[in-house]
Parts: sequence; C-alpha cells; structure tokens
Amino acid sequence: MRIVITFGTFDVFHIGHLSILNRARSLGDRLIVGVSSDKLSFSKKGRAPIYPQQARLDIVAGLKCVDDVFLEESLEMKKEYIRQFYADVLVMGDDWGGRFDGLSDICQVLYLPRTPSISTTSIIEVVRSI
Ligand code: CTP
Repeated sequence: MRIVITFGTFDVFHIGHLSILNRARSLGDRLIVGVSSDKLSFSKKGRAPIYPQQARLDIVAGLKCVDDVFLEESLEMKKEYIRQFYADVLVMGDDWGGRFDGLSDICQVLYLPRTPSISTTSIIEVVRSI
C-alpha cells in the first residue's frame, strides 16, 4: 500500500486543483489531502479564502480521487502529518519546488507541474472585473 499526501488551500475549486489531485492519486493507492485552515491560508496568501475551511474540506473529500482529508493548521507540521498518515510520497505543486526537499529522509518528495493559466487568484480577479 503506497500512501500519497498533498496539501493546499483549494479555494474556489478549479481544474488545476482537480488535475494535481488526480495525478497525485495515480502515484499510489491512497490519497490523503491536508486542506489549509482559514488562518493558515490567510498567512500564506495575505487574504481570507472565499470558501470557509469546512466547505473546502467537504469539496475535496467529495472527490473520487481523494480517500481522506484533514485540516492543515501549520506549514511547519508537514513532518508530523506525514508520520501521522504513514505517507510514502509527498506531492506538491512545482510552485513549491525544492521547498520540502528536507523531508526526503522520511518520504519521497515530488513536485508536479501546475496546470497553466489558471489559479484561484486569477478567477477572483476575472469575477471582480465583470
Ligand atoms: N495547482 C496546480 N495548478 C494550478 C493551480 C494550483 O497544480 N493552476 C496546485 C498547487 O500547486 C497546489 C494545489 O493545486 O499543489 C493547491 O493550490 P492552491 O494554492 O490552493 O491554488 P491556487 O489556484 O494556486 O491558489 P491562489 O491563486 O490563491 O494562490
């Protein structure tokens, strides 16, 4: 059993989110997703998410490719989460390239390419401009 773990805010869920989760799941037998809390998302992105954390957790948990979700409270706790869920592989988008290489002593660390031309930020900007 190969367990894959990944993390993100997944606000205003879009095709880039679905794509990375599908690709992450295809690298193992189970996919666990840490959904960033509202507080952590605010500290990462400098703005509050549009969808509250419980809605973001429910959306990600409802996907066919996702086996389990939990609330990610801190970026500094990746090691604890990896151990807690017995993850064999950590998948991150390549916007985080190199940032988590220090965890390669406890699991495989892979950075997957982001889907071009889409982000939560750009969707919010488009909607604002209408
Ligand atoms: N992601 C992706 N392709 C995109 C956008 C996001 O593969 N076009 C991935 C990120 O690399 C990350 C996960 O989806 O692994 C969650 O990213 P998140 O930060 O929630 O989404 P963004 O759209 O990047 O959000 P924002 O614009 O608010 O930074």
